[in-house]
Amino acid sequence: MKKLDLKTGYDIYIDHDYNINTLLDKDKKYLYVIDEVVLNLYGSNISGEKVIVGPGEKAKDISTILKIYDGCIEIGLERDDYIVAIGGGSTGDAAGFAASTFKRGIGFINVPTTLLAMIDSSIGGKTAIDYNGIKNQIGTFYDPSIVYMDMKFLKTLPADVIKSSMGEVIKYAVLSRSFYEWLNKNLDMVLAMDSDIIEELVERCTTIKADIVNQDRIDRGVRAYLNLGHTIGHAIEMYYGVSHGLAVAAGIYYESLISYRMGMLQEGTLQFIISLIDRCAVDTQYPIDKGLISLMAHDKKNTNGRLGFILPEDIGLVKKVMIDEKELYDILKDPGI
Ligand SMILES: NC(=O)c1ccc[n+]([C@@H]2O[C@H](COP(=O)([O-])OP(=O)(O)OC[C@H]3O[C@@H](n4cnc5c(N)ncnc54)[C@H](O)[C@@H]3O)[C@@H](O)[C@H]2O)c1
Ligand SMILES: [Zn+2]
Repeated sequence: MKKLDLKTGYDIYIDHDYNINTLLDKDKKYLYVIDEVVLNLYGSNISGEKVIVGPGEKAKDISTILKIYDGCIEIGLERDDYIVAIGGGSTGDAAGFAASTFKRGIGFINVPTTLLAMIDSSIGGKTAIDYNGIKNQIGTFYDPSIVYMDMKFLKTLPADVIKSSMGEVIKYAVLSRSFYEWLNKNLDMVLAMDSDIIEELVERCTTIKADIVNQDRIDRGVRAYLNLGHTIGHAIEMYYGVSHGLAVAAGIYYESLISYRMGMLQEGTLQFIISLIDRCAVDTQYPIDKGLISLMAHDKKNTNGRLGFILPEDIGLVKKVMIDEKELYDILKDPGI
């Protein structure tokens, strides 16, 4: 078991043999909140009281939170006991939200089982559920005490879930030039899920994320950069019902196109970004109509009715830009580059 030092204030481990029990305190109570698919695949290794959620995004519903509270009450969880999330980003987001609100906050341990959850959602302490058809409308900032990443979970990921994680991987490549260069060299091995390369990917991405979050934990400044691709991405996710990571990849495509059309991004750099997305074989073509644009009105980066975007100006350089709905429609109404 390896411990990462990311200065987050909580312990982050990478392991290969499901040794989490060695990290748990025998005197505490634990409620396992586990994704349905993960339970079917790995349930025999996981003992203890369980609340089954999902699968996937279905977990991020208010009804799941009530189910988790009921589970907490049933086994008498107290403030220094723990909820343990075992699943992808959806399970972690929902279980983290329940942990942050039950008795005003009980212990939380996150065991991410997807690549996206390892490289992104398990780090940074954001929890969320969806509400009224709006992504992440309700949530809290709440750090776990442990993040335990077991690489073995990745062996059973279906191809579409792996592809979905690439949306966040591409995001990090646009945010960090050194990571972009590493990814360009290693992308084929990443897509083939080579175990050493994936472990290096997890370490590199979590380092980038922790560096940004450590400067702005409550998302009032630079943390917004991690939302590259997400203003359009979240709207595509809800409007077209595609998975988070695939929608983010398409969001990065459209937000790069906006930047290029506004004269902020050179054509050559736009092509570098598109080429990364193409190599991951992610579809980017979603009609940007007025219904989709109106969904963006709920984005948390908006102010005074204008939509907030994180736009790339170069690899390793992004800027927050406000655009109104009509202007956005005009910029994006022509398809193609
Ligand atoms: N909190 C944050 O900072 C943050 C950051 C990024 C994304 N997110 C959220 O994360 C969610 C997406 O997470 P995700 O991509 O991990 O998807 P997910 O949790 O929705 O899971 C996707 C699918 O993978 C299955 N699965 C999970 N682990 C598996 C395994 N080991 N083997 C086989 N199947 C497995 C699930 O059953 C589900 O069907 C979105 O809701 C997004 O908003 C949150
Ligand atoms: Zn995301």
